[in-house]
Amino acid sequence: MNIEKIISELTLEEKASLCSGRSVWNTVEVDRLGIKSIMMTDGPHGLRRQPEGDEQTGMFVSVPSTCFPPASLSACSFDRELLHEMGEALGEECVAENVRILLGPGANIKRSPLCGRNFEYFSEDPYLAGEMAAAHIQGVQSKGVGTSLKHFAANSQETRRFCSDSRMDERTLNEIYLPAFKKAVTDAQPATIMCSYNLLNGEYVSQNHYLLTETLRDKWGFEGVVVSDWGAVFERVKSLAAGLELEMPGSCDDNDKKIVDAVRAGLLSEDVLDLAVRRLLTLLERIGGDGTTVVFDKEKHNELAKKIAAESMVLLKNNGILPLKQDADIVFIGDFAQSPRYQGAGSSQVNPIKMTSALEAAGNYNNVRFCKGYDTGNCEQAETLLEAEAVAAARDADVCVLFVGLTPEYESEGFDREHMRLPGGHNSLIEAVAAVNPNVVVVLHNGSPVEMPWADKTAAILEAYLGGQAGGDAVVDILFGKQNPCGKLAESFPKKLSDNPSFLYYFGERDVTEYREGIFVGYRYYDTKDMDVLFPFGHGLSYTTFGYSNLVLSASSIKDTDTLTVTVDVTNTGSVPGKEIVQLYVGAAYKDSWVIRAEKELKGFQKVLLQPGETKTVTFALDKSAFAYYNTGLHDWHVMTGPYRIQIGRSSRDIALTAQVDVVSTVPIRFKADVNTTFGDILRLEGGKEFIEELWERFPQFVQPPEDSEPGTIEYMSYKSQFEMVPRSVLAFDTSGMTLDQFQQMLDEKINK
Ligand code: GLC
Repeated sequence: MNIEKIISELTLEEKASLCSGRSVWNTVEVDRLGIKSIMMTDGPHGLRRQPEGDEQTGMFVSVPSTCFPPASLSACSFDRELLHEMGEALGEECVAENVRILLGPGANIKRSPLCGRNFEYFSEDPYLAGEMAAAHIQGVQSKGVGTSLKHFAANSQETRRFCSDSRMDERTLNEIYLPAFKKAVTDAQPATIMCSYNLLNGEYVSQNHYLLTETLRDKWGFEGVVVSDWGAVFERVKSLAAGLELEMPGSCDDNDKKIVDAVRAGLLSEDVLDLAVRRLLTLLERIGGDGTTVVFDKEKHNELAKKIAAESMVLLKNNGILPLKQDADIVFIGDFAQSPRYQGAGSSQVNPIKMTSALEAAGNYNNVRFCKGYDTGNCEQAETLLEAEAVAAARDADVCVLFVGLTPEYESEGFDREHMRLPGGHNSLIEAVAAVNPNVVVVLHNGSPVEMPWADKTAAILEAYLGGQAGGDAVVDILFGKQNPCGKLAESFPKKLSDNPSFLYYFGERDVTEYREGIFVGYRYYDTKDMDVLFPFGHGLSYTTFGYSNLVLSASSIKDTDTLTVTVDVTNTGSVPGKEIVQLYVGAAYKDSWVIRAEKELKGFQKVLLQPGETKTVTFALDKSAFAYYNTGLHDWHVMTGPYRIQIGRSSRDIALTAQVDVVSTVPIRFKADVNTTFGDILRLEGGKEFIEELWERFPQFVQPPEDSEPGTIEYMSYKSQFEMVPRSVLAFDTSGMTLDQFQQMLDEKINK
């Protein structure tokens, strides 16, 4: 495709028409110049392709396709290769249906468990979310199909999502809400990025130049096309100038005409329009495909969906009751055992090719009895006849497996949750069964954390999340031990909603949502406060056990331009093969009044398969990004000189080994010292120490106390407090008559040179 030649031959109207969709899912074609239309559709964890021309049939009528586990579950695999594999399979299904862009993955950060769309997002942690998103994108795009990383950015609630203004400081934005997108862009170059509906700091994201151009393109080097979320465009000409190339769906030409008029009136340079068209044509060249389709192996994809679910589900608690004995008298209780909630509601909803319930899957193992336990259509109701029937069945069973969770009215795209509780009828059922039988295993089907007031009354808890079409199979393989669980939580489960750091401010006030908790999202908050949680980030049990030893750092001191190599040995100390997710956290081992840091941040993870007794050495390479914070003065990442803890953990709260490394910054902090600069800050500057020592001669109040100065003495107080003092306040005690200007002159000559 000779893009420049095509641009030169396109009329103004044709150029403008290319910048919006022809229909709900298709772009515009210009036959005379060989520009073809392509189809894009949802995603992220399965293809939702509506029959041609049936776009208005409602989002739940689509061609049958494999429903893989949504992101909230697949992220718990902590397995880059597995997400890549899922992406490949999704890409194959797109090619089979001639879909050229799959709308996903969703990389928004889980600020609160209340977000209705958390099931579709990976994590509360930007590092994990970025790694998972990049792997998913690379997988899909390996098949020549594009993706649409979404929803860029700061779209962490469904409440008023079309007009809510996400307000946060620059550091919070760059440390928490952007890094997953940045990682995916720099590692995987998604064909498109979908801008979100909301505003960021007062400007609609769809026309936010700071995000779409200064950040996405100028800083990160994004090469693709920015597509709007469906209906997210407000002022079309302004959005085009901000860096939004494609409005979806088409706005029945109204906005196209606005673009033409703006160019004609000299309000928009045609170069801006040409740049957008160039990017759109480059996109077509990259992922447009040649129209050939393939037939994919449905059974192979179903097996992959099962593998992803089985290797992602998280065993939260187990007193040894699991794995179940095949000759045990087992009763499955709960409608989810036969009609599981396996995906979230909304635009991601897939029409699955196949569906296997746990009850069907259990048939391969055991003559499991079943009781419905609750009415899914009315699951707030407690102490029902169904519950009584379940209790009767539970009395004499060896084991009761309860399938509970959230039904679509509790969490969905388009609205947020109101609380973190399970439906009343589910909680009641668990309590009633546990009262008559201690051998209760709870299997949870939920898209985001729930409160578990009954946790201590259970023998085991399996967080199965929304398992996709083969989730039932995966659950049963885990229950009966065919699959050793190896997933770990990609989000914290607080004991109660009000423990969550965003609790006081979530949803915001009318159209403004202030992210007042700042960088303290998820475990960054709970761990810094050393606050008890129900289950911590990174937690997950196995049917075996793992030992950690021999943590070695390649150096005890590095510069921020060096790479630190970390190795640790992991041993399977149990009796069955298993996979362990080794987590590496970094935390500043110093307190600094210049920058507030979370107690730890995830900066590496690896999943290793180990046979009983086997030991493997796991290696991590840490660069500057492992130690840096976002400096709003530099508008860039910076490492503060000081000691840092390297923590190897089974979870964020179960740290097995710790070591310390000193990191020296090669980027000096520069600022102009003046009479309002503390002596402590002046000490940080080049020549600052010498300057202060000279001052001690002049201002005896700051004489160095003798080594044995006792706390409580004037010498001790003077020494400790001087670092918080500023020259201006000291001059008040000076009898030499030095003026503020003279002091500033001294600073300029010795420090600010
Ligand atoms: C939606 C969603 C987005 C989806 C799009 C197309 O409103 O926010 O994730 O891809 O519409 O269905």
